[in-house]
Amino acid sequence: MKRIGVLTSGGDAPGMNAAIRAVVRTGCINDMEVYGIKRGFQGLISGDMERLDLRSVSDIIHRGGTMLFSARCPEFKEVAGIQKGVDSCREHGIEGIVVIGGDGSFRGARDLSLSGIPCIGVPGTIDNDIACCDYTIGFDTSMNTIMQMVDRVRDTTESHGRCSIVEVMGRKAGYLALNAGIAVGATAILVPEFDYDIEKDIIERMRRTQKTGKRHFIIMVAEGIGGVEELSRQVEKALGVESRAVILGHVQRGGTPTCRDRVVASQMGYRAVKLLLNGKDNRVVAMQHEQIIDFDIYEALSMKKTIDNELYSLAHEISI
Ligand code: ADP
Ligand code: F6P
Repeated sequence: MKRIGVLTSGGDAPGMNAAIRAVVRTGCINDMEVYGIKRGFQGLISGDMERLDLRSVSDIIHRGGTMLFSARCPEFKEVAGIQKGVDSCREHGIEGIVVIGGDGSFRGARDLSLSGIPCIGVPGTIDNDIACCDYTIGFDTSMNTIMQMVDRVRDTTESHGRCSIVEVMGRKAGYLALNAGIAVGATAILVPEFDYDIEKDIIERMRRTQKTGKRHFIIMVAEGIGGVEELSRQVEKALGVESRAVILGHVQRGGTPTCRDRVVASQMGYRAVKLLLNGKDNRVVAMQHEQIIDFDIYEALSMKKTIDNELYSLAHEISI
């Protein structure tokens, strides 16, 4: 394989640049030509790509976002869109592609592989919701950003003796909410993976902690649960504690990647190119028990990820 492409797709994640850098450098030192494809599958379809060399990826390892830009490309979910991607690869002589993104992007990579363009997926999403992976690029940075932001929220929450109901990202997954919730000492954490009852899981818990002298509260809610404004009103009504809803939003997806994200992204980008060099395709790079491994994309996409039950129980046991 002499010419490969690399693209970032779906929601961006801090550390994607470090992964791009590793892909480009590993390709170049193995005598490959590496093309950066802009705006994910959108740029693949339109042929928006440029050759990258060793120096093209200098000074990006510490930057959030993605130098290749990202996009959601609905056209790529259609057979005709995939075919346009295949045609574009043929036209530009691209023999393999490293796709950095979440499980949606992996579905695109799978379809492209099936149509004859070898692809390797690299897990890049702050949500950490890819089943075959213990860890996805961007998760650590995002958790730390949430923690820092909520530490600030806590100062004002404490000063006013209020309850702050904080919504963090994770439309379908609660890993950010659970882990960051523990890190900020949240009184209660709501995630899409577990059923909840507002009276029992929020109001009652707050009452219990009030009895032991607590005057201010942080409640962590994953985006997939939603309704933080309404929850705030319910808390005020039930307990008479002044409450505020705080939606952290996209601040959680930006910023300089942590050391962990830069290192894991470098390992994963490196592994992806090595797989292509060894004639492997239709695979996903993953991390399990701190080891970098890889899976068949079909297998990876059919796996189910569960949230850590023990961690969830512990969070609430010690928040008293
Ligand atoms: P993520 O990769 O972060 O999960 P999305 O789910 O938005 O993000 O997917 C990113 C892109 O991947 C989509 O805009 C589309 O181009 C492609 N994609 C998603 N699902 C499919 C699918 N079933 N088939 C082909 N391509 C897909
Ligand atoms: O990147 C994943 C994610 O952050 C989800 O947690 C969130 O639901 C989604 O992206 C929001 O993305 P956007 O606002 O770009 O549509």
